[in-house]
Amino acid sequence: MSILIRLIYASKVASHFGPMDMHDILAKSRRNNISVGVGGLLVMSDGHFFQALEGGRAAVHQTYGRILRDPRHADSVILSCQEIGKRSFTDWSMGYALSNEKNRKLFLSYSAESRFLPLHLSAPMAEALLQEIGDHARQIGGAELAV
Ligand SMILES: Cc1cc2nc3c(=O)[nH]c(=O)nc-3n(C[C@H](O)[C@H](O)[C@H](O)COP(=O)(O)O)c2cc1C
Repeated sequence: MSILIRLIYASKVASHFGPMDMHDILAKSRRNNISVGVGGLLVMSDGHFFQALEGGRAAVHQTYGRILRDPRHADSVILSCQEIGKRSFTDWSMGYALSNEKNRKLFLSYSAESRFLPLHLSAPMAEALLQEIGDHARQIGGAELAV
């Protein structure tokens, strides 16, 4: 059986990032990720991305390698990368958690400041935040995950 992994990273949104960029990223993610069996979740809040990629080890690393070269973000840091027994995110090829009031409150509960600063998260904190976002999204039926 192939080895499954979950990789979580955070990065800074580029200053030239516009609303159409998110549309393009989600459309490409959904198309590409389905074809290689990768799933996950993406957050954009306070000028930062926080993303989890789950799937076969080679597919996740190849996807992250491509994302790293994307000029729409910078200063990417891998927060956690581990083998997993089973996937947490089977519902979405790439779910998008909106930075609305309720989600933001959750993001900020993992930050020492009044801004979401995911680059500073430890691996256990990154994992815990991710699971909480996923749980919340499932409770509301994924409605907030659409663009
Ligand atoms: C924050 C961020 C997250 C992204 N996530 C994904 C992803 O999960 N899967 C993916 O294929 N591309 C993702 N992309 C887009 C890739 O960087 C790249 O533009 C895309 O994979 C190219 O697809 P194409 O070769 O089919 O045009 C992401 C880009 C950014 C900036």
